[in-house]
Amino acid sequence: MTKSREDHNPGRRKFLKGVGIAGAGAAIADHLWTEAEAQEKQPTTLSGNVKITLDVNGSPRDVQVEPRTTLLNALRNHLEPAVTGPKLVCDVGTCGACTVLLDGKPAYSCLVLAVDAVNRKITTVEGFGSPESPNAVQAAFVEHDALMCGFCTPGFVTTISAYLKKNPNPSLDEVREACKGNFCRCGTYPRVFEAALAAAKATAG
Ligand code: FES
Ligand code: FES
Repeated sequence: MTKSREDHNPGRRKFLKGVGIAGAGAAIADHLWTEAEAQEKQPTTLSGNVKITLDVNGSPRDVQVEPRTTLLNALRNHLEPAVTGPKLVCDVGTCGACTVLLDGKPAYSCLVLAVDAVNRKITTVEGFGSPESPNAVQAAFVEHDALMCGFCTPGFVTTISAYLKKNPNPSLDEVREACKGNFCRCGTYPRVFEAALAAAKATAG
C-alpha cells in the first residue's frame, strides 16, 4: 500500500507531536503538556519570523521567532534578557533538564514550539524564587547539597516544586516516582530526594 505524504512528514512539528508524551518519563507523562491539549488558536501554516508574546514568570515577553523554534530555544536564545534556567541537554525529550511549567504542569520545553506556548502561563525555575528569596525547594537543594554540575537542577526544582503543590506530604517512593522524567548524570538522586522531602516538611511546618 502506498503511504501518503502525511505519513512520511519528517518535519520537526510532526516529530514533536509524536514524542510529546512517548519521550517523557512515565511518571510525569500524565501531566506533561502535549500538543493534543493545545488550543488550536495558532494559524495552521506559518512561515518566516512571527512576532509572539510569551507569558514568562508573570511578565509578557515579546519575541520574534521562526515557527519551528522550540520554547526552550526561544527562552534561552531569543528573549532579551534571556531566561536560561531551563537547560539544553538532550533536546529530544529524554532528560528533563529543560522542564518548565505550562499552566502549572511540567513540560519539556524542548518538545514545545514557542508559538504553541502563546496564551499559556510559562513558569521557569526563575519564577519560583531568587537567590535572596528562594522557595522551599530551592532552599532545600542548597541546604542538602543536592547538586554537582547543576545542569539537571533547574529541571528537578521545577518538577518537585509543582509536585509538592499537588502532594504536599509525599513519601520517598512518591518523590522518586514524580522525578522519573528527570535524569541526573552526576548521580545526585539521594540528595535530590532528601531535599524534596525536607522542602515538603519545611512547607508544612
Ligand atoms: S533538553 Fe529537553 S528533555 Fe532533555
Ligand atoms: S548535578 Fe550534574 S547532571 Fe545532575
